[in-house]
Amino acid sequence: MIIGDRLCVEPGGTLYGDLQVPGDKSISHRAVMLGSIATGTTEITGCLMGEDVRSTIAAFSAMGVSINARENGQLSIEGRGYSGLNPPASQLDLGNSGTSMRLMAGLLAGSGMSVTMTGDQSLCARPMRRVTAPLGQMGAIVDTQPDGTPPLIITRATDLHAISYELPVASAQVKSAILLAGLRACGRTRIVEPAPTRDHTERMLRAFGAALEVVANEICIEGPQELTATSIAVPGDISSAAFFLVGAAMVEGAAVTIKNVGVNPTRIGVLEILRLMGADIELSNERSTGSEPLADLTVRGTRLTGIDIPAALVPSAIDEFPALFIAAACAKGRTRLAEAGELRHKESDRIDMMAHGLEILGVKLTTSADGIEITGSERGFRAGRVASGGDHRVAMAFAVAGLKAAGPIEITDCSAIATSYPGFVDSARQLGLKLAAI
Ligand code: S3P
Repeated sequence: MIIGDRLCVEPGGTLYGDLQVPGDKSISHRAVMLGSIATGTTEITGCLMGEDVRSTIAAFSAMGVSINARENGQLSIEGRGYSGLNPPASQLDLGNSGTSMRLMAGLLAGSGMSVTMTGDQSLCARPMRRVTAPLGQMGAIVDTQPDGTPPLIITRATDLHAISYELPVASAQVKSAILLAGLRACGRTRIVEPAPTRDHTERMLRAFGAALEVVANEICIEGPQELTATSIAVPGDISSAAFFLVGAAMVEGAAVTIKNVGVNPTRIGVLEILRLMGADIELSNERSTGSEPLADLTVRGTRLTGIDIPAALVPSAIDEFPALFIAAACAKGRTRLAEAGELRHKESDRIDMMAHGLEILGVKLTTSADGIEITGSERGFRAGRVASGGDHRVAMAFAVAGLKAAGPIEITDCSAIATSYPGFVDSARQLGLKLAAI
């Protein structure tokens, strides 16, 4: 089903059955990017064919890379090496995709090409100095608008040099941008993380034959290095699974198994937080794609209890907080989140966007600069009309709230769901959510 602008979820129901979620968005982007600069033919299976990854595919196609992408997520990329990229004829429009823009800033910074990258209204409001500052230290010429937002303008530069950089924020996108620039730069680039963030770039660089050293919170890469084409099987996206994990966890009698989900230790904060709230989650069939671990996840509904979310779990659950706030609103007692100011810099300000909608649905809460405190109630939500602000994860989170609502919930601006989960409405209905486009 094509997702329209508005969705309506009828109250009640349960979630039951098996599901396969689409490919992991972070891993899909990286597979396309590294396949495009490797030498040889890279075959990808399970690639997410959502709008964000399509933006990355379109960008590399515009730079002369031959990419045969099928709707079922099978891609064949004819990489001609890093120097095989050609300057694009016009600016690259990356739509809603922050991952595309930030990672490509690093990847293209030393390419010797002048490239302008832009995006939609949401992307053009997101902070980019976090990548342009370290890239500038490496000798790249990358400019933003005066307020640090896109369009991002890369001016021809080839001779990048290695840097040692302590990330001021825990951000996999910034780390990855520096690593991808470090792949081209002369010398040893060293990155220190304040907390572990998703390590898909490190794993995938190795799968493409690159050497890098990871010791505790330090990652070092010696440049320049060339990549060799490989085969990548993309696991299901735990960030997409999260909506149904939360939905099933908060409804007694629900039982859902989501198959082939990526369970990289840097991404499973949502499982750990739900378990601390009392959720019954089981991992089975644990295996590996070669570079990434995956498993089947089974959730059975129980009563959830509010918790103080450990700050150490914030980076590994950073995209799952919209869904987790729905769980918190249905849990017994208070849930407190702090040290999560990064949520204000996502596709929307996810603290304010979620708080606004939750209040409309009758939830008691207070927000702070870096978090939220939600007073849960097993009564759940009242009926209402909430805005998603064009943020895919906010829209999907409010859809799941319908399971515990007293009346219909209408959600506006839902078309962005297609950026990460084009089949969301079908999946939700398949499991029993009474969701419809209106
Ligand atoms: C991503 C990293 C995270 C996450 C985003 C995808 C990635 O962003 O929120 O959806 O693929 O590297 P930050 O690195 O900015 O936290």
